[in-house]
Amino acid sequence: LAKVEVELGSIPEGKNVIIKWRGKPVFVRHRTASEIEEANREDWKSLRDPEADSARVKNPEWLVMLGVCTHLGCVPIGEAGDYGGWFCPCHGSHYDISGRIRKGPAPTNLEIPTYDLNEAEGKLVV
Ligand code: FES
Repeated sequence: LAKVEVELGSIPEGKNVIIKWRGKPVFVRHRTASEIEEANREDWKSLRDPEADSARVKNPEWLVMLGVCTHLGCVPIGEAGDYGGWFCPCHGSHYDISGRIRKGPAPTNLEIPTYDLNEAEGKLVV
């Protein structure tokens, strides 16, 4: 199976990159301290697809998700929408800085792929 390697050092704090994995976009965001705080401030139990931020990351600094809207599969736009995360322009789904659905038609959070975070080597392998 095809693996994709990303150098973590090439992604500055507060930036997104999009990589291609098995024909699908994968979003990698190097989150800032305030974004991590924001992601943990929410009362996640009341969200549409209740999930704690800590259940969605291996290290809170690195958010890794499939860039595929869970409504009908468009690619959401980063640093957009009403919740400081991603916005899907197809039918208006808003995702927060943890990739959780907050508003719009998407039924579930952006999916988390299987990946390895090798911080000693500064690599992410999807
Ligand atoms: Fe994203 Fe419909 S495909 S809102």
